[in-house]
Amino acid sequence: MLAIIGGTGMTQLACLEISHRKIMRTPYGEPSGPLTFGKIGDNKVVFLARHGYGHTIPPHEVNYRANLWALHSLNLSRVIAVASVGGIRADFTPGTAAIPDQIIDYTYGRKYTYYEGIAKPVTHIDFTEPYCQIMRKCLLDAAEWANEKVIDGGVYGTTQGPRLETAAEINRLERDGVDMVGMTGMPEAALAKELGLCYASIAVVANYAAGREASAHVIKLEDAHAVLEKAMVSVRNILERVVGLNGN
Ligand code: HPA
Repeated sequence: MLAIIGGTGMTQLACLEISHRKIMRTPYGEPSGPLTFGKIGDNKVVFLARHGYGHTIPPHEVNYRANLWALHSLNLSRVIAVASVGGIRADFTPGTAAIPDQIIDYTYGRKYTYYEGIAKPVTHIDFTEPYCQIMRKCLLDAAEWANEKVIDGGVYGTTQGPRLETAAEINRLERDGVDMVGMTGMPEAALAKELGLCYASIAVVANYAAGREASAHVIKLEDAHAVLEKAMVSVRNILERVVGLNGN
């Protein structure tokens, strides 16, 4: 079974033929909502809306540990995370999708690890490659098969939010080598890695990052939502193909 975590613009998965929903509890509290089980074609999929089904949980308050723990407890190994981002690099224009290959984490005060608390050994996971290369390749192959253009690679900078960035912060991120900026990439990716999950992300550019192009003075979220709605059609096309490739 493949797990899909939906972000802003994807609180439901239209192509999923739903069989049931399940409320899960974990040692880390409750996930963002019940898990939705179903099928895409012949393949079993479980879906979780990262911000809750009513999109009420802001990025810094998402219980990432509970979300990943709940999925991991189903004994699955593969997770695809859909996330919306602001575009920094010139070719990351609104509506573009990318399969990032690196992360820079600018968040703070979140729950970053399962390895804490009484009697837990100090553990440092390797995070050189934050995303699962097998899953990335599956997404890239699925995109090609679906005839959907995606950018292969890119550095995902995760900011704390919930506010958007200043123009100067985006300039700094660009100097750091960040191509796209979002608020949910971390600690989700690191927690997935701690659990040994094969995790990769599809990032969809909702808007130019602050200070750039149409976002020179202000970011209009209504425009970003319209862009996302349209781009999610492509994302669903890719997801429909990737479940087949995974062979579940
Ligand atoms: N900044 C941070 N997160 C985002 C953005 C942005 O411009 N757009 C979508 N998620």
